[in-house]
Amino acid sequence: MVLSLVLALAAPGVAAARDFPEDFLWGTAIAAFQTEAGGRPANADTHSDWWAWSHDPANIANGHVSGDRVERGPGHWRRYRADARLARRRLGANAFRLSIEWSRLFPRSTHGARTPRQLDRLVDRAAARHYEAELRAIRGLGMRPMLTLNHFTLPTWLHDPIAVRAAFAGVGPDDPPPAVARGGWLDERTVTEFGRFAAWAAWRYGHLVDLWVTINEPMVVAVNGYVNVAGAFAGWFPPGVYSFPAAVRAVRNLAKANALAYDAVHRQDRRARVGPVQNMIAFTGDRRGAEHADYVFNRVFLNAAVKGWDDKDVDGRIEAGERRRDLRGRADFIGVNYYFRSRVIGPPAPASSTVALFDFLPTNTYRHPLNPTGPPCPTVCTDFGAEVYPQGFRGLLRRAGSYGLPVYVTENGLADADDDMRAEYLVDHLRVLRGAMRDGLARVKGYFAWSLMDNFEWAAGYYPKFGFFSYDPRTLARHERASARIFHTITRFGRLPGGQ
Ligand code: FCB
Repeated sequence: MVLSLVLALAAPGVAAARDFPEDFLWGTAIAAFQTEAGGRPANADTHSDWWAWSHDPANIANGHVSGDRVERGPGHWRRYRADARLARRRLGANAFRLSIEWSRLFPRSTHGARTPRQLDRLVDRAAARHYEAELRAIRGLGMRPMLTLNHFTLPTWLHDPIAVRAAFAGVGPDDPPPAVARGGWLDERTVTEFGRFAAWAAWRYGHLVDLWVTINEPMVVAVNGYVNVAGAFAGWFPPGVYSFPAAVRAVRNLAKANALAYDAVHRQDRRARVGPVQNMIAFTGDRRGAEHADYVFNRVFLNAAVKGWDDKDVDGRIEAGERRRDLRGRADFIGVNYYFRSRVIGPPAPASSTVALFDFLPTNTYRHPLNPTGPPCPTVCTDFGAEVYPQGFRGLLRRAGSYGLPVYVTENGLADADDDMRAEYLVDHLRVLRGAMRDGLARVKGYFAWSLMDNFEWAAGYYPKFGFFSYDPRTLARHERASARIFHTITRFGRLPGGQ
């Protein structure tokens, strides 16, 4: 009896036990603005702030954006069926993360329309049908869509980033933000309209989607948009200003927007699972500096979405009047995007009188062709100058897991044009993920690699190559990189190569 049990355990079927559960979600993530345009005609959407921002001559002249034209993209708008097939057949995905573009669906102001039905009278019908067909195609192939409502872009009827930038000229980093019409995330109108848009999306696509992301990386929107100092913080997202009060206001509005969207989707579908996606950075170095950076970047937003903590002065203490029921409990899961380590040094004094804990200097990126004056890479870095650091993933998964909610890894990946690091990067991160799951640090339900194909990397344009597939901008033909095979083997057997 005992002997047969031992033999059974040693049998190949058991020895080849899975590293990840059978129902684990595997897929890739893409975003509308980064992938849809391309080919002829390019089917580009010209109604978003990112369109305006990436084409702005002043931004191009001073190097804040690459000057690459998003129109030369992979053309996912036309190729979505073939792309979904690649994900399913070549990568073995059973899930697919994508976003819908608010400004395509609603290119003009929806002011005054409150209900989904009222909004639906204003929708661009072709765009609405297009996303419906895409979601059906994804499901038809046996993949579960995870749909992001906001992946960085806003319609220009809510955000004119060039006007906002102009309004902030001469305004100091701790001065009160000037009033600007079409102020994007500085404007409460954006918050209200986003809630309505979410309600419309759930009303229209709820029968096809049960996993929703409200907002992708709100802290990246806030920091890259409102904390830009040449040489230190230089994400150059719209509106590319340097203002701590503006950054704080944006974060608080984004938290409110998350809550409104969460409620809106749930009103349409009680069983839907809805959550925000948080970019998490592994901060190391000066202990206090790293702790403060971790608080400001990794925790403030999640604390708001889960606990309702509205840390107005970002001092790490939740005082009377900083607990809000209208923000609390607005996440069914936490989406984690993890890419790299940041080494932190602590300058002697806070950089800001508004954000007390902003007393650190992080190095997020090292020398690479678009950043030739950056510091040299201290260990191993990607094409895009990000320091590869799988070890840092564990602590962040613990942090995400500590909120007591299921976790999805909604993005993880690297820029690697010649594909000589990607397979190892993925396996190393998945090994850490498996360890964190086994040790009960987080209830992780799925993993999405960034990205299916090369795409428009925001201010950096087309230089960084994040895809399992590259593409020919003329023909839009996809070409598979070798690492795709390894990812497929992992997804097929739920097992990492190399045993242990
Ligand atoms: C993340 C973004 C995603 C992509 C990757 C590389 O911060 O969510 O759109 O740009 O980085």
